[in-house]
Order: sequence, then C-alpha cells, then structure tokens
Amino acid sequence: MKGVVLAGGLGTRLYPLTKVTNKHLLPVYKKPMIYYPIQTLVDAGIKDILIVTGGNSAGDFLKLLGNGKEFGLKHLNYTYQEGEGGIAEALSLAQHFAGSGKFVVILGDNIIEGSIKDEVKIFAKQEEGARILLKEVNNPQRFGVAEIKGDRIIRIIEKPKAPPSNLAVTGIYMYDSYAFEIIKTLKPSGRGELEITDVNNEYIRKGTLTFGTLKGWWTDAGTFDSLIRAGNLVYSGQKDIPQMFLSLEGRGLR
Ligand code: DAU
Repeated sequence: MKGVVLAGGLGTRLYPLTKVTNKHLLPVYKKPMIYYPIQTLVDAGIKDILIVTGGNSAGDFLKLLGNGKEFGLKHLNYTYQEGEGGIAEALSLAQHFAGSGKFVVILGDNIIEGSIKDEVKIFAKQEEGARILLKEVNNPQRFGVAEIKGDRIIRIIEKPKAPPSNLAVTGIYMYDSYAFEIIKTLKPSGRGELEITDVNNEYIRKGTLTFGTLKGWWTDAGTFDSLIRAGNLVYSGQKDIPQMFLSLEGRGLR
C-alpha cells in the first residue's frame, strides 16, 4: 500500500516559530517533526511515500529528507500545496500518486507511540471504503470527534463545543480512491478549508467507514502546548523522566 504524509498549511498557530520555517521541520525532542509520521508509515511496511508540503521552506524538505535513505527508502515523492486550503485539499494533490489503489494518510504533525501495522493489514483486506483510528482524549473539543451508536460511528463532528464522546479522530486515515471523488464535491467549511471530516462523513453515509482504536499514546504537535507535550512524550519513551513533565493536560495546559 502507498502512504501520504500531509505537511502543507501555514502553521499559523505556532507563529512566530513558523515565520521563517515550516511547522513540520520544527524539533520534537531529537528529530524534526516530520520524521515521526514518516517512520510510522515505514514501520507499517509502507515504502512508497508522497510528502505533500507547502508554505515556507518547502525546499528544506528535500535537503532534510532527500530520497529517504535515513528511513531505509530508495525514493521519496514530493508535491506542493499552495496556501492553506485544508487537509482534504492537500490530499487531493495525491490523486496522481495514489492512482486507483488504497493508501494510508498521516498528518505531518501526528506522533504516535505504537504501530499501525495491524490496522493497515486489516484495511488491506477491506474490500472498499475507508478506515480511521480513534483515541480517547481529555480535550475532544480540539479534534474531530466520533459519535458512536452500538458498534458504529454514525457521525464525526469537527471541533464540537459539546462533544458526543471523548473519542478523537486521529490524523491517520486509510482510503480507497473514492476519497478523491468525494473531495471534488466538498465546499469550504467555516474556517475556509476543505475538511477531512467531511470526507469521512461521506464514507459513513455510504456505510463503508470502519474504525480501529490506537494503542499507546497519540498527540499532534500543532500548538505550543501540544508541541512541548509531543517532545516530552517522545523523550519519556527513551528515558525515565519525572511525571510532572508529562502531565500538562492534567494541569489544564493543553
Ligand atoms: O490531529 C488530528 C486532527 O487533525 C483531527 O482530529 C481533525 O479532525 C482534523 O481536522 C485535524 O485538525 P487540526 O485543526 O488540528 O488540523 P491542522 O489544521 O492543525 O492540520 C494538521 C496537519 O494537516 C498539518 O500539520 C499539515 C496538514 N495540513 C493542514 C492544512 C490546514 C495540510 O497539509 N494542508 C492544510 O491546508
């Protein structure tokens, strides 16, 4: 299966850190942010990867990643998103790359502790449609949130004021090529973006969206607090550090 890392957008929530560079090149503990989602795909056995970049310093991705040798890859593909038209718009740029096959998408600011290998295997056997990964969080208002009935997701709500559950939709999505047909029908949301949540809701309407639950910790790194949290979580995976550095959420800092 192919993989797509979405690293477009302007990273305005991290201004001025992103004034002269791209959010996905910022450090998360020992490595640039984008290393983590690429490694997640590679660990799942995905070797054919497209990076969708955008905004500032797009050329630095090439300088940093080259053909992906550090990840054991022979080649990396790149494309460029102009502006900040949304996650679904960034994904539309992957159509030529994905062709008619199934593929895995990961947001360039999503970092996980575990592996998605088993989930990708499950999706490889799924005849059609999409599969998403959920994770329990303390602050669902910040994410796309799944409304569950029985064992089905009946709807996903983007950044709900009154979340129907504490199950966030993580930035790891598995799609068939129908995703590109859906994106062509989308209209910009209130924040002026083509929303990935609208893509997922269309799969729900078709009855072809399945889901799994992510094991281990998951975080994005797109705000000041989640960026430092991501660094601390990665650090804690390698060293024994005091709990106080990890409990930003508990102290209301996220
Ligand atoms: O992290 C998971 C969440 O990501 C989901 O729960 C939400 O449903 C989903 O909408 C998204 O929410 P955010 O508002 O946090 O997304 P953000 O705008 O921060 O973008 C996340 C990544 O997506 C970013 O690091 C790069 C990529 N992106 C984003 C935009 C807006 C692009 O490639 N192009 C874009 O235009």
